[in-house]
Amino acid sequence: MSIPAIETILRSAKDALHQADTVKKLEDVRIQFLGRKSALTALLRSLKDYPAKEQKKIGQRANEVKNAIKELIALKVKELAVIAPLTPHIDLTIPAKKLSVGHLHPLTLVAESVERIFQSMNFSVVGGDEIETEYYNFDALNIPAHHPAREMWDTFWIKQSKSENSKNRLLLRTHTSPVQVRYMELHQPPFQIIVPGRAFRYEATDASHEINFYQVEGLMVGRDVSLANLKYIIREFLKKLVGRDIAIRFRPSYFPFTEPSIEVDIKMGNQWLEIMGAGMLHPNVFSYAHYPPNEWQGFAFGLGLDRVAMIKYGIPDIRLFYSGDTRFTRQFR
Ligand code: PHE
Repeated sequence: MSIPAIETILRSAKDALHQADTVKKLEDVRIQFLGRKSALTALLRSLKDYPAKEQKKIGQRANEVKNAIKELIALKVKELAVIAPLTPHIDLTIPAKKLSVGHLHPLTLVAESVERIFQSMNFSVVGGDEIETEYYNFDALNIPAHHPAREMWDTFWIKQSKSENSKNRLLLRTHTSPVQVRYMELHQPPFQIIVPGRAFRYEATDASHEINFYQVEGLMVGRDVSLANLKYIIREFLKKLVGRDIAIRFRPSYFPFTEPSIEVDIKMGNQWLEIMGAGMLHPNVFSYAHYPPNEWQGFAFGLGLDRVAMIKYGIPDIRLFYSGDTRFTRQFR
């Protein structure tokens, strides 16, 4: 065998090693190139038959190539040892695990779309406190102590030192309406705002009543804001919310802080559902806000957000919103 033939062995050994991607194939390569029946072993065994001059040259190169192949095999063994234990576990065709992404509560989703709709009609979104004084929740809304209308709002009172002054007596607000006078004390008309927020009532719970629920208060005051404006805004709002022209009904009603007062019903199937109270602001409310008499006109409304969400999603029981049951909340995205 000649030197070039030895080099060919080295080259084909390298190729074979390159292909060997399992321990079994690697062992085959070792047997093929270094085994007892390999060309290299045969060559080394037959060196004595070569002329002395070539014996040295060929013998040396053959040994070098043998050692080189040994080293390459050793390297490959290490390489396979790293990959081999992993390979059987990787199946790129298996679908990836589904990630569970967080999402918003249905009431938050509805509040957000209500806010978007009113913002598109130039209303600002304003906040208010859940703990209120008796003054703003009742007195300033034209509901003095012992007025029978207070029975409309069964109240959670906050235990504390008894004060003579209703401005110091605290409660959980029974509606978002206290924000009306609070906002008017600090702002001059014209303006139009909505106030989404939580309200509390001390009453028995059932499928349509909860001790805590959400409202969106609306308030628009200007020189000649009229009942017609109120009806237009409400109709537009409900149309945008439901996405189509829906049947609504305005009924005369009574609230101490509005005159005239109305209630708005929305038709679901063949049933009318009450979703908001509204009306033109009572002159007494303007005087609690320290506005001069006969200068401003305005309307207010109070929308039951839970009711709207129940209608929008077909939810039969208000208590589901507060159950904390993820089987319920997971359904809304
Ligand atoms: N605050 C009233 C309620 O909770 C609703 C309402 C708001 C009525 C504004 C008229 C005007 O029942």
